[in-house]
Amino acid sequence: MSQTPRAAEPGELLPKDYFRRLITSELFTSRSPLEVDLGCGDGSFALEMARQYPARNFLAVERLLGRVRKVCRRATKAKLENLRVLRLEARYTVEWLLPHASVSRLHLLFPDPWPKAKHHRRRLVQQEFLSALDTILVPGGEFLFKTDHEEYFEWAKVELAMFGRFLPLDWPEDAFFYPQTDFERQWRAEGRTVFHLRVQKPTSA
Ligand SMILES: C[S@@+](CC[C@H](N)C(=O)[O-])C[C@H]1O[C@@H](n2cnc3c(N)ncnc32)[C@H](O)[C@@H]1O
Repeated sequence: MSQTPRAAEPGELLPKDYFRRLITSELFTSRSPLEVDLGCGDGSFALEMARQYPARNFLAVERLLGRVRKVCRRATKAKLENLRVLRLEARYTVEWLLPHASVSRLHLLFPDPWPKAKHHRRRLVQQEFLSALDTILVPGGEFLFKTDHEEYFEWAKVELAMFGRFLPLDWPEDAFFYPQTDFERQWRAEGRTVFHLRVQKPTSA
């Protein structure tokens, strides 16, 4: 039995073919720098960033359809043409869908920490992901990561050190506009520490 494909929400990126890499013009018609918010949740971070930086494009990636629809509605209401939402699994998006050398910054903010040892292999930050990230980042592109989970933070630092291709960058609180995410506001309100790191792909090989 054939299934009718779901119609795209306004502002949603619904790829015609999930089995090849997108070409850049399928993401946005303008060639502005592209930033990706992986696991965007309620989308408040991506929405604020898109408002603040109209000369950049933002792709918010989220697997839950209800959240995707909500972010699309908010982006449409705010007339944000530089924000699109993709409903897809995060790892697949980075490993198989995004064009090579297309992303100027990838934000991974409060991803699931998978605290149990038997689930650690489900953590996003590990060698295959970092290798795929390396291919989709432009030279000089950045990876920004935040978590409240100290053990995952230490894990990410070890994985990045093992990968060895990215350079550490400072990230003082007031370095640039960077709104708190929905989860971050909740964690901070509970008095939890937020850990963050920022690394850069070298500008030359
Ligand atoms: C803990 S929440 C953080 C949301 C947001 N980044 C924030 O800081 O408020 C993690 C989000 O990632 C989404 N998510 C988890 N695993 C995912 C995956 N494998 N692919 C895409 N989205 C995923 C969840 O549905 C959820 O919205």
